[in-house]
Amino acid sequence: MRCSIAVSVVFFLIFNISRVAAQRITWSEHIAPLIHRNCTPCHQNGDAAPFPLVTYEDVAKRAAFVKKVTQSRFMPPWKPDPHYSTFANQRGLTDEEITMIAEWADHGMAKGKKVEVKDEALVVTGTHHNRKPDLVLKMSKPFHVKGDNLERFIVFKLPFELPDSANVEAIQFTTTNNKIIHHANYEVDAVPDLDIYHTDDYINLTEDNRFKYDQYVPFRKHMIYYGGWIPGSFGESYPENIGWVMPKRGVILLTMHYAPVAKEEDNVSGVEIYFTKTPVKRQIRAISLGSGGVGEKEIDPFFYIPANAVKTFKLRVTTPEDQSLLYVWPHMHYVGKVFKAYGVTPEKDTIKLVQIPDWNFNWQEIYWFPTLKKIPKGTILTIEGTYDNTANNPNNPSNPPQLVYSNGDMKSTDEMLTLVMVYLPYEKDDEHIILKKNERF
Ligand code: HEC
Repeated sequence: MRCSIAVSVVFFLIFNISRVAAQRITWSEHIAPLIHRNCTPCHQNGDAAPFPLVTYEDVAKRAAFVKKVTQSRFMPPWKPDPHYSTFANQRGLTDEEITMIAEWADHGMAKGKKVEVKDEALVVTGTHHNRKPDLVLKMSKPFHVKGDNLERFIVFKLPFELPDSANVEAIQFTTTNNKIIHHANYEVDAVPDLDIYHTDDYINLTEDNRFKYDQYVPFRKHMIYYGGWIPGSFGESYPENIGWVMPKRGVILLTMHYAPVAKEEDNVSGVEIYFTKTPVKRQIRAISLGSGGVGEKEIDPFFYIPANAVKTFKLRVTTPEDQSLLYVWPHMHYVGKVFKAYGVTPEKDTIKLVQIPDWNFNWQEIYWFPTLKKIPKGTILTIEGTYDNTANNPNNPSNPPQLVYSNGDMKSTDEMLTLVMVYLPYEKDDEHIILKKNERF
């Protein structure tokens, strides 16, 4: 008898606690801040995600779906292992936050009284900078994307010649048609003395002859900067005194990954650049390690992946000077499975850079460290990539699997093992400089 009273008291308590907790979870107080931080940057009209998640109504009518994709951790997409290293542009929900969304979805989706945020104010449109850009470089003609449900990789050449070099304060990718773009990367190359005009305006890496890209290779000798865009990302700006200098003459190579579309679409994309009179005291540098870059020939073993094989490759590169890293961009193609990059200092300390345990070509992005990350001189950087070229890999573009190798020309059915690093020569106390990638400038 006593026992059963105890049980029912406990049951009563648990039942009521969970009911009270569920009642207390409201859109305005608890759910809206989570959704606006983690989902809205991509899920708003015109961006790549299929529907908006901005207002109470948007989310309430899909509450069960939202619960499902957050519980399965499909959304928000974030591929690096958060236990390995953390980043300034990190997205993600804690276990408690995921439970809170589920409770809210299951218990009537209370709206709450306190309205702290105006949902509409969160919708981002157009440029984020508070003035006009100083330089806009974009495709000379709209690129026509066929409605044949094929994805395409196109590299556009955007040549430029300025009266003088210029200090860059911020840069932002721009496009007339967000929703057909999966991601984009741009590389700023100084080209002081070659003809930058009489080559093709763009190269279709998906459909053109693979050797066509060779005409752009000579432009890539002096890479000045490297940036990228995926849905939900904003422009890039830099801490005080830090930046890069737009060379007087050169090209921007803009690589566009167009998503498969069912109807014809046009698109003009490019970059907007903001200059500053303040001299850039410390110039950002970019280096690409691995396929198509430094150390390409030293990838071990020789970089080819036979059909039906799972293989791991490594590249080791010694850091020539003390460096401070701003960000890293890991890159592999479809049969890539695991990516890892780390350094071992001369004192044998390990510096963990990034680990992606379940690589997905569709969700690659640039990872900004929360503060500048010191890499001492003599550190051996290791980049490691594992590739699954079997029929068990659902992302394998060939069925049956084919021999895959790298020609450094970025064709997506080839493979790559690349780490782009953007860094500065180290100065004392750099470790305390905070990078705020996610701030809308
Ligand atoms: C980096 C951009 C990005 C962020 C952040 C993001 N999404 Fe998405 N989401 C997408 C894209 C793109 C798709 C469509 C692609 C796909 O289905 O693979 C999608 C698809 C979805 C779908 C449909 C899935 C399906 O199976 O069709 C749901 C539901 C969803 N997102 C919910 C969320 C929620 C909830 C959040 C925040 C917790 C979120 N998303 C954050 C980009 C994003």
